[in-house]
Amino acid sequence: MTDKLWGGRFDEDITPDVLDYTLTTDVDVRLVFADLWQDIAHVLMLGHREIIPAENARAILGALLRLSERHERGELRLRPELEDVHFNIEQMVIEDLGREVGGHMHTARSRNDQVSTDARMYLRRVQLDAVAANLALIDVLLSFPEEDLLAILPGYTHSQAAQPVSVGFWKTAHASMLLRDVRRLRDVFDRTDESALGACALAGTSFPLDRELSARLLGFRGVLSHALDATSARDYLIESAAAFAIGGNNLSRMAEEIVLWSGHEYSLVEVSDAYATGSSIMPQKKNPVVAELTRGRAGRTAGTLVQLLTMAKGVTLGYSCDLQDDKPYLWNAIDTYLSTLRIVAGQTRGLRFNSERGEDLCWDNFSTATELANYLVSDHGLPFREAHHVTGSLVGALLKRGATLRDTAAGAEILAGLGHPVEEQILARLFAPRAAVTSYTSPGGTSPQSVEAVRAELRQAVQGHGEW
Ligand code: ARG
Repeated sequence: MTDKLWGGRFDEDITPDVLDYTLTTDVDVRLVFADLWQDIAHVLMLGHREIIPAENARAILGALLRLSERHERGELRLRPELEDVHFNIEQMVIEDLGREVGGHMHTARSRNDQVSTDARMYLRRVQLDAVAANLALIDVLLSFPEEDLLAILPGYTHSQAAQPVSVGFWKTAHASMLLRDVRRLRDVFDRTDESALGACALAGTSFPLDRELSARLLGFRGVLSHALDATSARDYLIESAAAFAIGGNNLSRMAEEIVLWSGHEYSLVEVSDAYATGSSIMPQKKNPVVAELTRGRAGRTAGTLVQLLTMAKGVTLGYSCDLQDDKPYLWNAIDTYLSTLRIVAGQTRGLRFNSERGEDLCWDNFSTATELANYLVSDHGLPFREAHHVTGSLVGALLKRGATLRDTAAGAEILAGLGHPVEEQILARLFAPRAAVTSYTSPGGTSPQSVEAVRAELRQAVQGHGEW
């Protein structure tokens, strides 16, 4: 017999390297609060149902409260030789009260229902933190001054200049995307928020448990009834990882724009000095490292999702130790996602857009050519396809001359030659990026009034989530 809590049937103890290979005390540090609360709820339920004697329940609760106080003071240390948080806390209770009394705590439960309950409690917290961090970032994105409504940026498709947009339009686009991350996190929260406690090892128990009671004491929305499913399920954890991975990807796309646009060739945006670092050799450098890391670290969150899917896919129902490999990677994804959300909020607050440069690029890159095609449709009655062709011919001819849409004299002359004369002043008006932006008044478009409408819509949605 070994002196392990499970040692009755063993002649020999595990070797130190086996312990080292199998323990989870290092990752379980984050679960101590949940495990203690869970023990308290379980023992209250056991006492209430008279499954264990009331005086034992009372003594165990006293020991658990003492442990909670120690934990709050930062004095509770998990011993690796006790494998995991569950054995550690049970051992501490037994050391405090003796086996006669403390040994009652583990009645009618298993580490299999415990670990899932702990992870669900911790994840709920993380999901709410991620919702709050997203809402804070969305707030930064939506708090732009009125000038941003007509501060011009080239909008791109295929990484080629497409049509002019405004800085406000860009900011609301990212806010709109992040709001979906918030919704996704809330959806995942709903499925995480179910108690596995009382499922026991896999098949339930003959003790008359009140699973509803312990679930309610732990603030769960309800019980995940089926004992085998409750102890086996890891999809709540995988979909959390999916929410973090998608969120990380969305932040990465914004980061990519910032990295690209802060290069000299674009010169569209600059991060504040606090979010950049210099070079050890090249004195002129200002590297947007926070945005680069945001982009790179989406690899961690995506990798975690793949790791979890792969880890779980071959595990038959009922706990297998494969499943304990869920936590270390997920913890890493959580830390990455939360720290990224927070730093991106700070970086976003200090972004400086160069809208003159944006306007120049729109002129130089024919970003408003579509406006002429639209004009030929509405003013000259041309079918859009024909108008597209005429405008395309104009662009081709200007490019051959090394000219741009700024050269309205050349433009007017070429159009006359094509049999579709348009006055120079009209071209100047049509091709002005600000005029184009102002004219895109369709719902969800880039005009100031459309952006204001979307901003109001987003603010209202944020309000709803904030009150949740
Ligand atoms: N430490 C384990 C984990 O992290 C807890 C459950 C262990 N259960 C078992 N039967 N080995 O998943």
